Amino acid sequence: MKTYSTTSALRAALSAARRAGKTVAFVPTMGNLHEGHLSLVRRAAREADVVVVSIFVNPLQFSASEDLGNYPRTLAADKEKLFAEGVQFLFQPQVEEIYPEGMEQHTKVSVPAVSEQHCGASRPGHFTGVATIVNKLFNMVQPDTAVFGEKDFQQLSVIRKMVKDLCMPINIIGVATARAEDGLALSSRNGYLDDSQRNTAPLLHRVLQEMREAIACGYDSYSDLELYAKLALKDGGFEPDYVNICDARSLEQVRPDTEEVVILAAAKLGSTRLIDNVTLTLNPSADWGMLAAN
Ligand code: PAF
Repeated sequence: MKTYSTTSALRAALSAARRAGKTVAFVPTMGNLHEGHLSLVRRAAREADVVVVSIFVNPLQFSASEDLGNYPRTLAADKEKLFAEGVQFLFQPQVEEIYPEGMEQHTKVSVPAVSEQHCGASRPGHFTGVATIVNKLFNMVQPDTAVFGEKDFQQLSVIRKMVKDLCMPINIIGVATARAEDGLALSSRNGYLDDSQRNTAPLLHRVLQEMREAIACGYDSYSDLELYAKLALKDGGFEPDYVNICDARSLEQVRPDTEEVVILAAAKLGSTRLIDNVTLTLNPSADWGMLAAN
């Protein structure tokens, strides 16, 4: 595995691979890699001849109140994992390579509508930070395919919209959330949880599954379900931020023509903010008008 820290060196290496007729799949990360990231890497390896992984903790997507300085950085362990997966190229730029004139002066990419609700409402500017860095990394790597986790469902929607709106010739693939045996979605943030919080944490997914089952059984009072979920999370020790049942395409309210529903949630355990989601396919062709859970 070759590690590059400048765009010019990475580009030179990748253009040699492209001249040899190879296709490129890209997995952008902020490091502190776990099984969830590795499932993206494995998918990328199935999609293309060479896999590029980036590790860059992007300051532009953190607000002043979020602890960028404490974000877990585990480069040596990350490199071992990527090497073991057979990754050929690691891009690991410094902040100066990405934002040479500082973040204020840098061109920003903002994706309207889909960025604004849910996590976007609680973390203003976050998705502009994500869209800007992903756009920039795409221009640096110029991949044929890029792979993201469905755990960050809203992030994936923002990236899909950006790629469509800006006519970027990149195939975006979403990979199902990797979970611990007790259902907790794998996340770098899980490392912040103490033992008791770690025991509580799977409740988030359980509550979402219960909501999905209720909808699949025909329960359609969505605002009641959202309220029930927030109360259940609060009773369990979470401080819920939002639990929203929405159309999986637009991330807006479910409409009569919605085919795919996503239930998005964010809740804090102590100071750790966890997110999760589940999806559900509507089955408008069924006579009984019921919903089929997937
Ligand atoms: O999901 C992440 O790790 C980050 O938001 C990403 C996509 C690497 C952009 O910094």
